[in-house]
Amino acid sequence: MEYIFKTLAEPFRIKMVEPIKGTTLAHRKEALHIAGNNPFLLDSKDVYIDLLTDSGTGAMSQKQWAGMIMADESYAGARSWLKLEQVVKDLTGMPYVLPTHQGRAAERILYGILGGPDKVFLSNTHFDTTRANIEYTGATALDLMPDDLTEQTLFIPFKGNMDLRKLEYQLANQANKQVAAVILTVTNNSSGGQPVSMENAKAVRVLCNRFGVMMVLDGCRIAENAYFIHHREEGYQHKSYRDIAHEMLSLADAFIMSAKKDGMVNMGGLLCMKDQELSLKCINQLIISEGFTTYGGLSGRDMEAMAIGLQEVFDEDYLHYRIRSTAYLGEKLKEMGVPVVWPIGGHAVYIDAARLFPNIPIDEYPGQVLVCELYKIGGIRCVEVGSMMFGKYDTNGQLIPAAQELVRLAIPRRVYTQSHIDFVLEAFDYILKMRDNTSGYQIVYEPPFLRHFTTRLKKL
Ligand code: F0G
Repeated sequence: MEYIFKTLAEPFRIKMVEPIKGTTLAHRKEALHIAGNNPFLLDSKDVYIDLLTDSGTGAMSQKQWAGMIMADESYAGARSWLKLEQVVKDLTGMPYVLPTHQGRAAERILYGILGGPDKVFLSNTHFDTTRANIEYTGATALDLMPDDLTEQTLFIPFKGNMDLRKLEYQLANQANKQVAAVILTVTNNSSGGQPVSMENAKAVRVLCNRFGVMMVLDGCRIAENAYFIHHREEGYQHKSYRDIAHEMLSLADAFIMSAKKDGMVNMGGLLCMKDQELSLKCINQLIISEGFTTYGGLSGRDMEAMAIGLQEVFDEDYLHYRIRSTAYLGEKLKEMGVPVVWPIGGHAVYIDAARLFPNIPIDEYPGQVLVCELYKIGGIRCVEVGSMMFGKYDTNGQLIPAAQELVRLAIPRRVYTQSHIDFVLEAFDYILKMRDNTSGYQIVYEPPFLRHFTTRLKKL
């Protein structure tokens, strides 16, 4: 369809509805208090618009639901598995495909085998579960983002790219450690859902060849990344989104996917590779911890839905709506004067809370202020990606802040309509009015790692 209208209408009709309940301000204040001012600890029934994550929160299509009814639940060699395997082989060009229950299970298997105390992994940015799985083996995980890409207001078309100079340096100068793999994360979730160009991926491949190192693609948002390449990178305007994804996948030695994103399912993951010997090691781990090779922690209906989702995600109308609707939220926020990370990424809008709340000191967590105020004002749930999530302490117990104080509004796939997004925008009207009259937070309980999930905070 040609896109001549300004209004971005959803490319679907709603055939089944899930009621969501509006709550009162008093109710939300009480719920937030009980949750220790940490929205991860809220019950979803108390949330009106849930932008916590785009992972596993999407709506499935009528084709996926119909497929699930026809699925084969056999333990071994199920029809649904063979269908999924074929779809994934066709897309990736990789001969060895292992199903896992979600992305981090694939990470644990692969990085468990490749990792170890004398190993180092290099990535544009390791997602937090990726880093955790690598560090758990004793290995080191280094993020190699170009320095200027943290500049939030600059339009750089491929802000998710790997810094090739840093990569070359690290590959050439590992004195005591061996580089286990280079991991290219597309889109780059931890850097604002920003895309990676094909040119960058090809250059990473060349460097991996030169140094004889394995290249892994962490591609849970590979279709969204392909959209950006099609629209922003020269030479790709006439290639389909699927062909672009296929081309990028053909560069890698292995592919890890949390299918809860561009697999368009609520649960599922994939681990694919070209090397047979490595696949045999992975299969051993898969069978011990996930399940047999033809289901790996998934039911037949999960695999059936994933096989269909991996095809639907490349639909032109869907991807246009997906990327444009995320941009709609981000562009409107920018117009209102909310400091957003620019340009807008694929699955989420990121807001710079330190600039939004200049009066809140970093050690009082400005990002958490925004997260809590959005919940109180509109029942909107989102997540802080700043010093609450990544902050550490020095030996005197002083906070070592994260590089940025961001808040992520992640958009579930095919779930909310434009009026839900307009509702979110209206909530920001209130935020902008009250921004000088609010206070920060202090942590009163925190676990030893991945603290954002269960931390409890007190309002100052
Ligand atoms: N890699 C990336 C780039 C991710 O964004 C995620 C999950 C994973 C791996 C792990 O996959 O959750 O299926 O085990 N990201 C989610 C998020 C949780 O909210 O961004 P998983």
